[in-house]
Amino acid sequence: MDTPFLASSLHTPNELTKDIRRVIFSEEELQRRVRELAGQISADYRGLDPLLVGVLRGVVFFMTDLMQAMTIPASLDFMAISRYDPQQKSKGAVRLTKDLEESVEGRHLIFVEDVVDTGLTLSYLLRVLKARTPASLEVCVLFDKSRHRLVDVPVKYKGFDLQDRFVVGYGLDYRGGYRHLPFVGELKPELLNLA
Ligand code: IMP
Repeated sequence: MDTPFLASSLHTPNELTKDIRRVIFSEEELQRRVRELAGQISADYRGLDPLLVGVLRGVVFFMTDLMQAMTIPASLDFMAISRYDPQQKSKGAVRLTKDLEESVEGRHLIFVEDVVDTGLTLSYLLRVLKARTPASLEVCVLFDKSRHRLVDVPVKYKGFDLQDRFVVGYGLDYRGGYRHLPFVGELKPELLNLA
């Protein structure tokens, strides 16, 4: 269910909010769900010292809140990739532009993602990580657009389902902007050029 567009959901003053048509997940909803996920992960990984792996840059906001709400020892590391360019023919092609600093061999990995859409990015990165023989590898995503899936990916921890919407905020961007909105919302359609 959509959250109605409430003035109280918006941080004031914030210049960015004039571009938002509707709030989909308020700051409170996001924080509550992130704390629940952190609780689940803390219970499941007690004594295992997991390594949380994220892909720059969108996941940074989610990763930070998730980790701060975890109550067990854990560490984090990041990769960076060049995502596919919708203008190019090589749709789905992903290239690693920054590798992890830590060795993952024998570690319990939790791959943390902001959105899983087609699953192409995630499936490529999971293959890369599996080849490095971690002790275990699970996936935690904040938003799951499962209807868009082109390849199957195993999602163990999921924040919210999010179908057929392009959203910004809480790490998600449109052309590099809007990541630092504390809520997730839809942009006004006249601002979008997704072609
Ligand atoms: P895919 O699963 O390989 O299709 O790619 C998922 C990536 O697409 C995410 O990590 C985001 O960077 C991007 N993405 C998908 N949906 C959205 C959205 O609604 N807003 C912003 N970025 C999105």
